[in-house]
Amino acid sequence: MEKFKNYNIKNVGETVTISGWVSKVRNLGGLIFIDLRNRAGIMQVIVRPENPSYETACELRNEYVIKVTGKIVERESKNEKLATGEIEVEVDNLELINKSREIPFAITDDTNALEDTRLKYRYLDLRRESLKNKFVVRNEITFATRKFLNNLDFLEVETPILCKSTPEGARDYLVPSRINKGKFYALPQSPQIFKQLLMVSGFERYFQIAKCFRDEDLRADRQPEFTQIDVEMSFVDEDQVMWLGENLVANIFKEVKGMDIKLPLMRMKYDDAIANYGSDKPDLRFGMEIHDITECFKNTEFTVFKTVIENNGVINAIVAKNVADKYSRKDLDKLTDYVKTYRASGLAYLKYNEEVSGSIFKVMTAEEVNSIKETLNVENNDLVLIVSGAYNVVKTSLGALRCKLARDLDLIKKEDYKLLWVVDFPSFEYSEEEGRYMACHHPFTSPKDEDVDKLLTDKAHCYSKAYDIVINGYEAGGGSIRIHDEKVQETMFKALELTEEDIREKFGFFVDALKYGCPPHGGFALGLDRLTMLLTGTDNIRDVIAFPKTASATDLMCECPSNVDEAQLNELGLSIKDNK
Ligand code: AMO
Repeated sequence: MEKFKNYNIKNVGETVTISGWVSKVRNLGGLIFIDLRNRAGIMQVIVRPENPSYETACELRNEYVIKVTGKIVERESKNEKLATGEIEVEVDNLELINKSREIPFAITDDTNALEDTRLKYRYLDLRRESLKNKFVVRNEITFATRKFLNNLDFLEVETPILCKSTPEGARDYLVPSRINKGKFYALPQSPQIFKQLLMVSGFERYFQIAKCFRDEDLRADRQPEFTQIDVEMSFVDEDQVMWLGENLVANIFKEVKGMDIKLPLMRMKYDDAIANYGSDKPDLRFGMEIHDITECFKNTEFTVFKTVIENNGVINAIVAKNVADKYSRKDLDKLTDYVKTYRASGLAYLKYNEEVSGSIFKVMTAEEVNSIKETLNVENNDLVLIVSGAYNVVKTSLGALRCKLARDLDLIKKEDYKLLWVVDFPSFEYSEEEGRYMACHHPFTSPKDEDVDKLLTDKAHCYSKAYDIVINGYEAGGGSIRIHDEKVQETMFKALELTEEDIREKFGFFVDALKYGCPPHGGFALGLDRLTMLLTGTDNIRDVIAFPKTASATDLMCECPSNVDEAQLNELGLSIKDNK
């Protein structure tokens, strides 16, 4: 079987047979020009009036399936935009293989058809070259991954899709059991427990391109059903796992993009990422770091800041360089509304021109104005944006504002990739909702050796052997060294306030496995969909999943989730309480 290929000027004179879809058909003075589209791309085909196939050609409409045989000739008027733009096929024979109904939207790269319509007819949407190419890249990523890991003796092992419900953070998708009425399987949020069990089994190096399912609120980079490149290794420490992770990613960049990523990747502590970028996935393609200017206001008489300082809050700022004159009062009001969506109480600003001005200028002393200028290295025409309040709110809102400004001001270069590890995550995060500390990653994440003793006594200051790989502000992957010691695992469960019954019920089998000679182990998972997004330059995860769900977790093409009939429910011993 031949490979798909794009013909070019070197093929002039060859007789070829190509099949595909009619992308465009024009009758120009009797000559029929057809743009034939297939996996290889577009080829212009020309049918002359004296050709026996001419009548068939006159009937052609968009998306009809045809097969043509003819000679490749050099075009008179060339099309530089097309890979095959220097040539065309002069048809000897044209066969109409199948007709198509009129399609609901034009199959063009730049489409303005509604996304809902495109999702309903996804099989047509996928005919678009720009979308199809994303799946070519996705395939290159999985191929490079398998090659790289196989060369290092990793075994690809499949793990179950029907699992036990062991909450890992998000909500589980549940599957009712017919044979065991009233009982449920859960779809895996990740193969986490299974890959750890494979380490107990002595597999030592495992990987899987694994489907994961999470019933969580969806965003532009989140789907309920997504894919991970999942890896686990035994007898390793953090450095070895991170070595593997970054070399795998660098190899993918090289194979897919031909790009060299400089290794080792920089490592940034979680606390520093939050302090300087207001995010645990900092985008390092631009500067505008967050600075603490609380000290500059230590003697302030401005009540807002004074109260913040009295309540142990902070005053932080970012500097947008050389744009003070670009931002009107109205623009700044919009930025204020923006930070308020991140719970900030407001946004103060200062414009440093020959004359300093700004929303808080009048309540500041000359000394404060100067001290800010010096602390932030402010130059002429810089815009200083300030948020005050509780630490987390200030960091998060300025972190988001920083990214928004970079987009608005076009500070991000195309094809720029900035990769890093974020390390030293806290073991726990406090959940206001639950009123208790929850696992920051999952309950099997090893604490730092020096923090094991603090697990029950000082949760706020326990750090873990967890790491995330961040690319251009996306969490592209994450992992950790796991707890292999039964006692430490028990302490961790206790710290998470799980009762003996909870532990037995939820993870009994897993805790048992730790008792049978569990090796030290660790691993990570890369989000394959996110990696593909990054490498194909889209910010919509649906573009890289062949049959994705909408933001409300529905499949518009299959029309699911859907009702099932009474008999199916009866078989499962289920009834619907309230259909609303
Ligand atoms: P984590 O939950 O961090 O770790 O997931 C790993 C990576 O998977 C991707 N990801 C998602 N992609 C699309 N849609 C989603 N809903 C979604 N959720 C996560 C992200 C993320 O970095 N078992 C651990 C890994 C480990 O410790 O080895 C885990 O699942 O890119």
